Amino acid sequence: MDYDFGGKVALITGAGSGIGRATALAFGKSGASVIVSDVNEQGGDETVDLIKQTGGQAIFIRCDVADASAVDEMVEQALKEYGHLDYGHNNAGIANVQADEWDEDVWARSLSINLTGVMHCMRAEVKAMRERGGGAIVNTSSINGLTGNASQPAYVSTKHGVIGLTRHGALKWAKDNIRVNCVCPGVIETAMTEAVASNPQYRAAMENMTPLGRMGRPEEIAGAVLWLCSDQASFVTGHPLVIDGGATVA
Ligand SMILES: NC(=O)c1ccc[n+]([C@@H]2O[C@H](COP(=O)([O-])OP(=O)(O)OC[C@H]3O[C@@H](n4cnc5c(N)ncnc54)[C@H](O)[C@@H]3O)[C@@H](O)[C@H]2O)c1
Repeated sequence: MDYDFGGKVALITGAGSGIGRATALAFGKSGASVIVSDVNEQGGDETVDLIKQTGGQAIFIRCDVADASAVDEMVEQALKEYGHLDYGHNNAGIANVQADEWDEDVWARSLSINLTGVMHCMRAEVKAMRERGGGAIVNTSSINGLTGNASQPAYVSTKHGVIGLTRHGALKWAKDNIRVNCVCPGVIETAMTEAVASNPQYRAAMENMTPLGRMGRPEEIAGAVLWLCSDQASFVTGHPLVIDGGATVA
């Protein structure tokens, strides 16, 4: 679906790669001014270039979402550049595929990025959106926010937490005309799942557990994020939207 987000401003974290980049490109194509944010400067710059190549407007702001003051500064910088903020896609995250998440440091790092990072962004975005008279926030959770996972205790805990934070925000800021939802992707082909996707045996196992028989594409998540931000979803708030090819249905 084509949206017209002309005159709107969208901020996307983790936009230097994967799902965040796909969302940033989709917003750019739909006429929004885009704030591309990431710790990865090269990836962020590439996303900005891709948006500009299709005639869109974007700037890159480097920000580590685990750092509360850096997040506040990012939103201030965005307001200086574009004057207001309409949408926030709080998407930056890490998966620790190789590390032991029972390790104290790995656990703390996961929480600081995947959960506290989302809290930092929501808090800063809401301040700006209130001044604008409303807005929409979409957080990135996961199907691991709804189901268990035997190998990643921190990841699964943070993604459950993101759904809780989303529901809290939806209730707290409804009176401010701010809708808060999240997306729960299944297995999507990005840098995060490269190790799985490049191993034929793991890939086949992943595809077999998905009724639609394949991994998802980042654009398929971006489409859901734009819909949740759009007026088409004007009565949707507090909702964890599952986009997983049917993986959690059975
Ligand atoms: N790929 C999947 O199968 C899948 C499934 C469910 C949920 N998710 C979630 O989707 C989100 C995006 O993941 P992706 O698959 O696009 O992976 P990705 O690795 O391609 O992108 C993640 C981006 O987040 C950035 N990032 C990491 N730490 C950061 C920090 N502290 N501050 C700012 N940016 C940071 C990375 O630099 C990277 O550009 C994550 O929250 C992830 O947990 C992914």
